[in-house]
Amino acid sequence: MEPLTELSPAQRARVLSLVSAATDADGASPLNEEAQLLLARPGAWHWLATDGAALAGYAQWQPDNATAQLVVHPAARRRGVGTRLLAALAARTSAPAVWAFRDLPAAHGFAAAAGLVPVRGLLVLAKPLHTVVAPVAPAGVTLRPFMDADADAFLATNAAAFAHHPEQGHFSAADLTARQSEEWWDPAGLVLAEDADGVAGFHWTKRHDADTGEVYVLGVHPRAAGRGLGGVLLQAGLAHLARGDVRRVILYVDADNTAAVRLYERGGFTRDHADVLYGQPVPAEGGIA
Ligand SMILES: CC(C)(COP(=O)(O)OP(=O)(O)OC[C@H]1O[C@@H](n2cnc3c(N)ncnc32)[C@H](O)[C@@H]1OP(=O)(O)O)[C@@H](O)C(=O)NCCC(=O)NCCS
Repeated sequence: MEPLTELSPAQRARVLSLVSAATDADGASPLNEEAQLLLARPGAWHWLATDGAALAGYAQWQPDNATAQLVVHPAARRRGVGTRLLAALAARTSAPAVWAFRDLPAAHGFAAAAGLVPVRGLLVLAKPLHTVVAPVAPAGVTLRPFMDADADAFLATNAAAFAHHPEQGHFSAADLTARQSEEWWDPAGLVLAEDADGVAGFHWTKRHDADTGEVYVLGVHPRAAGRGLGGVLLQAGLAHLARGDVRRVILYVDADNTAAVRLYERGGFTRDHADVLYGQPVPAEGGIA
């Protein structure tokens, strides 16, 4: 099975219909936002597993993240389609790691059967939004909405704040433009903290629907760390969402990012569920006793 580097509109429609059938059956989307955007943009490899005329399964490899997302149509499961897609991924990538959103029992069993183990955990935290404390910016810091002229400064601050993050660290101008053409984009929902040296941090919020919002990305430039800006920006973004009548806020954070998890727990967030990245087990260190 050879990968495609782009999908035709008809192939994209078939993948979206498969994703929708799986979402209905599983209660969780098998593709995250980035993978869904990459159905229509260059930057990913795609495998389509067919069963007669029907689309039985789909896998996507993101070279930038070195991770895959994989889904089998609910009507075609337990017939080896997932195993075939994983073999196709393994043939073209060195060691495929596959995301399991919500770590559903089928994904758990599938990964175990393939000899894959959890290599990264992404916590999904949630908080009801009733009352929000108005943010108080530290002296010399202004909180204000994003403007188009801020794009370069925003990208530079993001790159510095997420220098060691596997995905967010290489968020590009093209990635920003793609988000800006999404229906949820709202410049007022991207709050910047500015000091004498420029953009010191930001809280980008995202509106999912009438009731639900997300702490989409919150970052503080390392040069401005230790001044409490993270907490202030968190409150500023939540205040923006509350003004728009959002009642529940979620966020994604790496399970091993203890500083960020602590910031969110202090802000009243609790665990909703976890997404798991399954990959190759790391061989035990060899040694001579
Ligand atoms: C996980 C998923 C991709 C499996 O696809 P599939 O085509 O049904 O998998 P296969 O038929 O190749 O199964 C291979 C083995 O995985 C294990 N497995 C698959 N589904 C399982 C389930 N529901 N429960 C327990 N083990 C399961 C079994 O050991 C199976 O071998 P067997 O059928 O001989 O017992 C599919 O259920 C799916 O699309 N789930 C939603 C998306 C998702 O979670 N993707 C992340 C994958 S890590």
